[in-house]
Parts: sequence; C-alpha cells; structure tokens
Amino acid sequence: MTSIDFVVAKDDLDQCKVIATELPGADALPPDALLVKVERFAFTANNITYAVMGDELKYWQLFPAPNGFGNIPVWGFGEVIASRHPNVAVGERLFGYFPMATHLVIEAADVNKRALRDGAEHRKQVSPVYNLYSRVTGDPAFAGHQGDLQALLRPLFMLSFLVDDFLAENDDFGARTVLLSSASSKTAFGLAHLLHTRGRRVIGLTSAGNTDFVTSLGRYDQIVTYDRVTSLPPDVPVAFVDMAGNSALRAGLHRHFGERMKCSVRVGLTHRATDADEGELPGAKPRWFFAPDQIRKRAKEWGPGGIEQRFGTAWSGFASLLERSLTVVDSHGPEAVRQIYLDTLKGRIPPEQGHMLSLLG
Ligand SMILES: NC(=O)c1ccc[n+]([C@@H]2O[C@H](COP(=O)([O-])OP(=O)(O)OC[C@H]3O[C@@H](n4cnc5c(N)ncnc54)[C@H](OP(=O)(O)O)[C@@H]3O)[C@@H](O)[C@H]2O)c1
Repeated sequence: MTSIDFVVAKDDLDQCKVIATELPGADALPPDALLVKVERFAFTANNITYAVMGDELKYWQLFPAPNGFGNIPVWGFGEVIASRHPNVAVGERLFGYFPMATHLVIEAADVNKRALRDGAEHRKQVSPVYNLYSRVTGDPAFAGHQGDLQALLRPLFMLSFLVDDFLAENDDFGARTVLLSSASSKTAFGLAHLLHTRGRRVIGLTSAGNTDFVTSLGRYDQIVTYDRVTSLPPDVPVAFVDMAGNSALRAGLHRHFGERMKCSVRVGLTHRATDADEGELPGAKPRWFFAPDQIRKRAKEWGPGGIEQRFGTAWSGFASLLERSLTVVDSHGPEAVRQIYLDTLKGRIPPEQGHMLSLLG
C-alpha cells in the first residue's frame, strides 16, 4: 500500500511534486500505531507561511519528506483505517495537523475520551498543540460544512483570539484605533470581529482588489489601500497588527505615526516581502507575537478549561458570521491540489473563498 504525498522544494516554493511513499501493512504497524486516511484539509496563506518558516519554526520536522523537500502541515480530518491501539477503533474520525498526503501513521499516545497525541520521536520538538488530534466521531460541529469551517478558521481564530486578549489586557497600549494589514485574510477578519465587539475603531489595510470584500465583512470602520496609508490622520494613537509582514509598509506606518504608534505586533507574512533592514523605527518597537507564550500565561491565570471556555464563547459569536462571508470550495486529486497550492502561493485566491482539499482521487 502506498501514500500519495505532495511535497515542495524548501528553497524554492514554486517547485512542487507528488510522490508515492510505502506504507506499512496493518500487521506491520508498530504497537499502538494507527494508520489514518487523510480525508480533507484546509489550505490558506497560513500554510504558505508554515512553509516559509519551515526551518525556523521546525514545521518541516513534522512530516518527513525526501532531501531538499518538505511536506506542508495542514489542518484537517482523517479516518483511522487500521489500529493497533486497544482504545482507538477503525472508523474513528480525527481532527488535527496532517501532512499534505493521503495517509499518515500516528503513534497514538495519551489517548483519552476527547483526544490523542502522536508520540513519534521526530514530532517532539514542536509545540504540543501541533501533535494533538481531537476525536470527533459523531460530533456535528466537526462534520460536513460545519467541519469545513472549523478546519478553515478555528486554528486561525485562536490566533485572533489570543492577539485580541493580549491587546485588551494591555489596555490596547493606550490606543483606541487598531490597524490590521492583510485585512482580507481570515485571521484579520477574526481579529477585526473581536476588536469591533470591544468597541475599538478598526482600520483595515488591504490591496485595491480586495477592498469590496473587506467592506462586505462589516467589521472594519475604515478601509485603506496600501498606497494610501499616509492619508490616515497621524495625530491619533494607534496599535498595528501586521498580518502581511511587508517591511516597507511597516516602516512607512511607523514613520507616519511616529510616537503615536503605541504597539506594533507581527503575526504573519502573507506578502512574503523580503525583510529589508528597516533601521530604527519611531514608535513602539515591532515584535513578533508568540501565541504559545500567551497560551501559557492564560492557562496559569485562568486555570483548567479557562482558555477553552472563553475561546468557545468567542468562536460561537464569530462562526455565525461565516455563512455569509465565506464560500467553501472543494478540490480533489493531485492536479487540483497543485493548482490551489500555486494559486495560494501567488496570492490568486479570492478572499471570499475557503479551500478544502483532498489528495484522494
Ligand atoms: N503567528 C501565528 O500563530 C499565526 C496564526 C494564524 C495566522 N497567522 C498568519 O496570518 C496570515 C494570514 O493567514 P490566513 O490563512 O488568514 O490568510 P488568508 O485568509 O489565506 O489571506 C489571504 C490574503 O492574504 C494576502 N495575500 C495572500 N497571498 C498573497 C501574496 N502572494 N501576495 C500578496 N498578498 C497575499 C491577501 O490580502 P491583502 O490583499 O488584504 O493583503 C489575501 O487576500 C498568515 O501569514 C498566517 O501565517 C499567524
């Protein structure tokens, strides 16, 4: 039996190919291992960022690939088709981090009613959240269209939730206006929703072609195209959350707002613009937001279940907006996956689309 894997050249993301890898038969699986068929997975600019940061953040270590190539991690669903774990049955559905492939062998560990972990040695160096699989058999929230929305947005909305929480606990660093770059991205939409709910003024920065979509979301007070950011009044204190990672844009905003740039948080790299040396910028020093730090802090302060409970409440408020803002598009098979991968890499996906992919024919 073989798995079909979609791999990309680590040093040239334009190069991609499909390879076949041998799978162990059900009898040859190691003790406690599961053979999982990867049913479907979400693909957005976030996955491209995983590839761009594959070495630095160890994403390439999760799913081994031939020398020089990497398998991009994706959020999605799998079905157990063979099991050597006494408490995991064939037919179970799992939600979690999968390779772009048709199959994955998981070394099941810490199996409880709600989740299990892949204990494989090569996965130990990444944050635990990436090795966790939720057991979602029969859960309507993870089935059908609802399941697609979870795969497409829930992992992104966790970041939106944590950044909003970080800003809120710091009284937004004295700003009442928050600027978001790549305002048309799903992560920015989630954050705009939370900031809007807290009564903050939210300004979306986006490209000309995406302004109508960003307007239609109804969560931004003002939308400004990248070439017009210096038309914003500079005398208002602002916080900036950067999804685009465009150093020229960031430097321009810092110089425009000067000391009124109260906070400058980097979370994304959608534009993949090379990080030019910006030199010393006026205003708050730009810094990367590291989600696991905020999770650790809140887990300690809020106690067991505290994050999940607050996140669940925030998610239900957001999920109700998605029906009218996002169209789920399904694509199957290696050629379709290749096309959507390249379109996402090149920024050719219309922002209202959420792509669910499968390498199964
Ligand atoms: N640090 C974390 O833990 C974390 C967690 C979640 C997300 N993020 C980051 O947030 C960012 C957004 O992710 P997402 O999945 O929400 O994105 P998405 O919904 O797929 O975003 C699509 C938007 O990104 C911009 N874009 C994408 N590709 C581009 C290209 N090649 N050239 C120029 N613009 C491009 C465009 O927005 P505009 O025209 O509006 O610029 C496009 O409409 C990613 O970089 C992701 O890694 C980080």
